[in-house]
Amino acid sequence: MLQGKKILIGVTGSIAAYKIISLTRLLIKEGAEVKIVMTKAATKFVSPLVLSTLSKNKVLINLFEKDVWANHVMLGRWADLMLIAPLSCNTLAKMANGQCDNLLLSVYLSATCKVMCAPAMDEDMWHHAATRKNIEALTGYGNIVLGVDSGELASGLSGEGRMLEPENILLEIKNSFRTNELTGETVLITSGSTHEAIDPVRFIANHSTGKMGTALAEAFYLRGADVIFISGPAQHFPAYKNIEIIKVTSAEDMFIQAVQQFPNCSIAVLSAAVADYTPVETASQKIKKKEEQFTLSLKKTKDILKELGSLKSNQLLVGFALETNNELDNARKKLADKNADLIVLNSMNEQGAGFGFDTNKVTVLDKNGNQYESGLMSKQDVADYILEIVEEKLKQNA
Ligand code: CTP
Repeated sequence: MLQGKKILIGVTGSIAAYKIISLTRLLIKEGAEVKIVMTKAATKFVSPLVLSTLSKNKVLINLFEKDVWANHVMLGRWADLMLIAPLSCNTLAKMANGQCDNLLLSVYLSATCKVMCAPAMDEDMWHHAATRKNIEALTGYGNIVLGVDSGELASGLSGEGRMLEPENILLEIKNSFRTNELTGETVLITSGSTHEAIDPVRFIANHSTGKMGTALAEAFYLRGADVIFISGPAQHFPAYKNIEIIKVTSAEDMFIQAVQQFPNCSIAVLSAAVADYTPVETASQKIKKKEEQFTLSLKKTKDILKELGSLKSNQLLVGFALETNNELDNARKKLADKNADLIVLNSMNEQGAGFGFDTNKVTVLDKNGNQYESGLMSKQDVADYILEIVEEKLKQNA
């Protein structure tokens, strides 16, 4: 989602400056263009050579370098976002008061893009009344001021004041680029596996990790939708804190939650690998090993997609189909039987697609007989691909 976005990082003198090395890598991996300015104090904590190598751009430090003086205004205009991280107490105070005695501050004061700050300081400094006032001033100027983590501090003390971890700053950056194509839509997503208890220590499950459901939830959220994420046991969950996560265990729990949430949703995407059968009885004590053979009696679970298909009014309902043979025929049958608007067909026969892979390849089928092929791509890109089709259908239904 950050492909082609221009991020200007201002690094100030704090021990947390080392975290900018991995943040720069993460931003470059996301496709962003990164330029970095540093205060002189920052260069004592992290080498400009490392940051210029990773960002693939010269790191600028000095206001009085010939080629820089003319450019500081342009830097703030070049960027889509200026991130000041770590933001030291000293630079915070200067920013709050409009001081301008180095390159970083002059770029900040002339920046026309949005500005985000990630403070880093000792706990007592963080809680000082002057810092509180300065943070308030920065927020009042329209800057996005991130919070701090609690934990071990450079002073050896423990408490509030640690700069957020690079992964969390990356999330905040993506959040700041959230768009509004799907603002006003509420999306229900089911994800992960379900666990069907046999006894207190055993259950029936499958290999779903929740990666595809998570990618879908984040893609919907980043396009402005409200997302309700119902997940069975899984390894992946959406990272954005505004996504509502409802954790369930069994197919029955997921059914109850999905039916309850569905009336408040305009779109539902059922990507969970729900167990089709559950034990007729769950033993209350651990089943002891006895005979050579053991037969477990199973009964069908309720089909959530089919139920939502029968309940739906004008909602857009998207199901998944995981097939190993007669893929297209089976998927078309599911589309009709379950009254879905779209079916996303996952084939277990595709290399690099399926449970646990970072990549996927899907075929999306609609009720008019159209068929869309994604090609093999990352699960994030597959999520975006599905969303394009969803958006097209919403426009057609409008
Ligand atoms: N599904 C569901 N509730 C169930 C079983 C499946 O909501 N109890 C949903 C899945 O989330 C998916 C779609 O139905 O969106 C198809 O799931 P799949 O496992 O491919 O098919 P089944 O309907 O279970 O049929 P079969 O296992 O025979 O292929």
